[in-house]
Amino acid sequence: MSATNERGESIETAPTPEARLGSTTDTGAPAQSDRNSLTVGPDGPIVLHDTHFLNQMAHFNRERVPERNVHAKGSGAFGVFETTGDVSAYTKAALFQPGVRTDMLARFSTVAGEQGSPDTWRDPRGFALKFYTTEGNYDLVGNNTPIFFIRDTMKFPHFIRSQKRRGGSGLRDNHMQWDFWSLNPESAHQVTYLMGERGIPRTLRHMNGYGSHTYMWVNGSGEKFWVKYHFHSHQGVEGLTNEEATRLAGEDADAHRRDLYDAIERGEHPSWTLSVQVMPYEDAKTYRFNPFDLTKIWPHSDYPLIEVGTMTLNKNPENFFAQVEQAAFEPSALVPGIGFSPDKMLLGRAFAYADTHRYRIGPNYHQLPVNRPQAVAETNTYTFDGPMAYDHSGDDPVYAPNSEGRGYADEVGAVPESWESDGEMVRQAYTLRAEDDDFGQAGTLVREVWDDAQRAAFVETVVGHLLGGVQGEVLERAFQYWKNVDAETGQQIEEKVRASNG
Ligand code: HEM
Repeated sequence: MSATNERGESIETAPTPEARLGSTTDTGAPAQSDRNSLTVGPDGPIVLHDTHFLNQMAHFNRERVPERNVHAKGSGAFGVFETTGDVSAYTKAALFQPGVRTDMLARFSTVAGEQGSPDTWRDPRGFALKFYTTEGNYDLVGNNTPIFFIRDTMKFPHFIRSQKRRGGSGLRDNHMQWDFWSLNPESAHQVTYLMGERGIPRTLRHMNGYGSHTYMWVNGSGEKFWVKYHFHSHQGVEGLTNEEATRLAGEDADAHRRDLYDAIERGEHPSWTLSVQVMPYEDAKTYRFNPFDLTKIWPHSDYPLIEVGTMTLNKNPENFFAQVEQAAFEPSALVPGIGFSPDKMLLGRAFAYADTHRYRIGPNYHQLPVNRPQAVAETNTYTFDGPMAYDHSGDDPVYAPNSEGRGYADEVGAVPESWESDGEMVRQAYTLRAEDDDFGQAGTLVREVWDDAQRAAFVETVVGHLLGGVQGEVLERAFQYWKNVDAETGQQIEEKVRASNG
């Protein structure tokens, strides 16, 4: 087959895509060439008025937004949530009324790595959901673990820096990670979970998801409840061994993204059952530990699971950048019937996400198709103009209150999703209750939930991690940390590390 090269000479070539359809400039006119820049003679300089060329170059320089500071590497898919149970006694939220189907988006992610990092590094996985409800978008931005490393947002930037890279060398550093963990013993429950067999999911389909925080639900009569969300995988919960994960990290850094995408393309739509634990509002005041502390789970024996519905992911993104990279999840996106709780992590997150989206994507990130409230007939917000503004109100007043007929909100008095709070301003974790310790639930996980094989694998994982450069007083603190979780397991960890260190 013959074609022409850049010089217009006839050449023999394998079949190439035909240029006959042409391309356009960004302003829609026919483009002259996507192969040759405009020069003064074949050997001369490029001229400044080759605007198509200039646009291509300039746009290329701007075709990334900053990656997420945490959870940078992620995979997304669209789906549907169907409420199969009846939880109307606990919440009036439209999406959780019996029989309601709500379109949604899910994004699963690792936390500490960057965009190109392997999917199979040991790390919690983000489990971020956006429900396009008829009452506005509802975002539930959770993880695949029911607890977290810290209980006050103030510590979050410090925690994340300790998990990322050293300022000088640019290297990740186990010593730094254990320095932070061992100086913040409330991390014990989450670190135990992370070093256990659920620390590296086999695929994104084989993990559960949790809202982690305690949220408030309010029913149609104004009664309030505290809830925790659990998404149980229909594919089963399976983890990778350290060896499998390390091999995969080298062979296919995108193994989890590929698995999710391929499964959906094959028509194997992954699904999860959502259940909630419901705590009566008044119970929280006297419960034996603070039910808003994110380092704790609520025992199912106290608050059993109540089925809500099924989430099914059935559609891959068509444009990863537009629909996944620019997706903006924010715990502040709530709908009537769902509210915050006095969890100091959740309240900090109420600020953090919308703020980072304004920086990362731009102040009008809500107007992008993936982020806009898709199931709401009409939005009427007074946020106005700014970079890339598309929505507008025409000649309607741009202020409220106004006397020209553009609606505005004017509620006064107690808000439905509220709780009582009083007292002087203090800096303190929470008021201590009988079982508000740092190590108890971690110890229960090791002793009562895991079997011998799971405990043995856990010890090997912790030992391997500690042998990866943890030294001196940080190492000594790490030994004590594990003895505080469980004396026998801690002793084994110490002996194995000391034996290897010689
Ligand atoms: C992502 C802050 C705790 C789950 C992020 C991002 C920030 C952030 C700034 C990047 C968002 C973006 O650029 O789009 C914080 C702060 C926390 C906190 C300040 C401290 C309280 C948590 C907790 C969870 C969580 C406790 C889970 C229970 C996630 C998830 C994402 C994320 C899933 C990724 C969302 C996505 O897929 O786009 N966080 N976070 N974070 N965070 Fe947090």
